[in-house]
Amino acid sequence: MAGLIPKDFIQDLVARADIQSVVDSRVRLKKAGRNYQACCPFHSEKTPSFTVAPDKQFYHCFGCGAHGNAIDFIMEYDGLEFPDAVEVLAAELGLEVPREKGRGGVSRDRVEIENDFELMEKVAQFFMQQLRYHEKSTQVIDYLKNRGLTGETAKAFGIGYAPSEWDSVLKKFGGNAKAEQQLLALKLVSENERGRRFDFFRDRLMFPIRDRRGRVVGFGGRVLDNEQNPKYLNSPETRLFHKGRELYGFYEMKQHYKQLEQVIIVEGYMDVVALAQHGVRNSVASLGTAATPDQLQLLFRQSPQVVCCFDGDRAGRDAAWRALENALPLLRDGQDLRFLFLPEGDDPDSIVRAEGQQGFMQRIEQATSLRSYFFEHLSATIDLTQDAGKGALIAAAKPLIERMQSEFYRDLMLEELARRLGRDVTQLNQMIAKPTVKMPASEASKKRSTPIERAMGLLVQHPELGKTVPVNNALEALKVEGARVFVALHRQTYSNDLNSAQLLEGWRGTRYEENLRSLAQWNHQIREEHLEQEFKDTYMFLIDRYLEQRYEELRTLPPQELTTERLREIEQIIRALKSTPS
Ligand code: UTP
Ligand code: MN
Repeated sequence: MAGLIPKDFIQDLVARADIQSVVDSRVRLKKAGRNYQACCPFHSEKTPSFTVAPDKQFYHCFGCGAHGNAIDFIMEYDGLEFPDAVEVLAAELGLEVPREKGRGGVSRDRVEIENDFELMEKVAQFFMQQLRYHEKSTQVIDYLKNRGLTGETAKAFGIGYAPSEWDSVLKKFGGNAKAEQQLLALKLVSENERGRRFDFFRDRLMFPIRDRRGRVVGFGGRVLDNEQNPKYLNSPETRLFHKGRELYGFYEMKQHYKQLEQVIIVEGYMDVVALAQHGVRNSVASLGTAATPDQLQLLFRQSPQVVCCFDGDRAGRDAAWRALENALPLLRDGQDLRFLFLPEGDDPDSIVRAEGQQGFMQRIEQATSLRSYFFEHLSATIDLTQDAGKGALIAAAKPLIERMQSEFYRDLMLEELARRLGRDVTQLNQMIAKPTVKMPASEASKKRSTPIERAMGLLVQHPELGKTVPVNNALEALKVEGARVFVALHRQTYSNDLNSAQLLEGWRGTRYEENLRSLAQWNHQIREEHLEQEFKDTYMFLIDRYLEQRYEELRTLPPQELTTERLREIEQIIRALKSTPS
């Protein structure tokens, strides 16, 4: 891992970022009063419920509840992890991200990581060069031509050739002990038991695998004749490459679309490349495994529809079912997962070459819905004309439906189950455990009424209110949940000029983050001109509660502990409580 990014820098970044331009460069915004609007990029909708508030530097979707600041938007929209989103935002603002030195040598220096990426890129370039200049070049290029690929497509995907020699990469990039160590760590070079080192990929067609930011993290290498085994050799997991997280072709796909309507998951590198060759640019390949929850989540953030397009063989069917299982808990209303099985012996590559873009897309349009595939798969070995069969279907479907979080999908599946069993849906409904969904923001906001929550919510949404009353440290002792957090928020807003985005950024990763975020969504319905009074009133109310609490504490002390000082405090409290009507 890289060294930590200093908190100060992140705050500074959020302060400088302009949410409106960050969003607008990705999703076209329209002015709507004080705010900006668009159709939400995170769920499918026809009328815009996605709002960007420049004063708060926050976005919020009233449809799906997506919300956050500029960093959150980049994380969601570009499908990045937090540190990467920070890097992207910083780059957009022309800033260099500083890193703190890690503790105990656990975290790797940023320079080292950049070195790794640089080396991977250089090696990818080397392979591309070899494709053109190696003595076997004609043979390799003929292979590509035979598979229907033009030089342009090969270049777009950075396809290269790893020379047949034992040590091309080692020779070119080794040089000293440190460089060889790096080659070993990135699995570009292997070592045998006798300590001899040699290139990991030899005499193979090379497919660089890029991460979401376009950096080469690994390679897939294909043999040129089908005799050798294995057909594909892939980079093992390294400090840069984590198979379950990456998707082959994701970066290349994102280069082509501002907004995706559909993504097609296929099985192979060659499928992605051949599809692109024929103008189908919205496909990605999971790397030799079934689509993981991480990968599916990433895709659904990018596109409302995901089509799994797998070979009709056993492996393809297994992969499809596992993708379905992984998707069940993630699917939200309005997201669509479909399945297309190709005839045995065919794959997207062979289909698109035989039938062209149009033929392939026609098949995609006829892909099976989640509902149909779900029940066809479960019913395949069950005889529904028998009572036992009906029981078996319920038993198989129940735990799967229970994993679905989406109300829409649960209803849909239950209706279909009822239809297939000839039963009443309400009957089935009772057998299925209710989902443990989080309260949607609107529901949560209705219940949000305790004074401390109001005070925190007002501060989060209108940090400038913090300056209207003095910070009272004694309130930390108030025996109410959130008292300490409120005082901390008050201190932050009292002595700094922060907007909501900056204020919340400081709480990322803490256990209060989620609560504060939901307070930022709270619809307080207080007119703007009344905000300050409302905040002051709430603040005074809290002070009174504190005084009452303190009074009780003092009053119940044994007489010998009532010093003159404490007696004076009691007097003061009584006077204070009398003077403020509560
Ligand atoms: P396929 O055998 O379907 O590959 O494996 P493909 O892309 O159609 O290959 P071509 O058309 O013969 O060139 C699908 C994917 O499974 C992984 C690779 O990621 C491949 O793209 N795989 C396959 C391996 O990792 N190793 C293998 O030996 C075979
Ligand atoms: Mn193939």
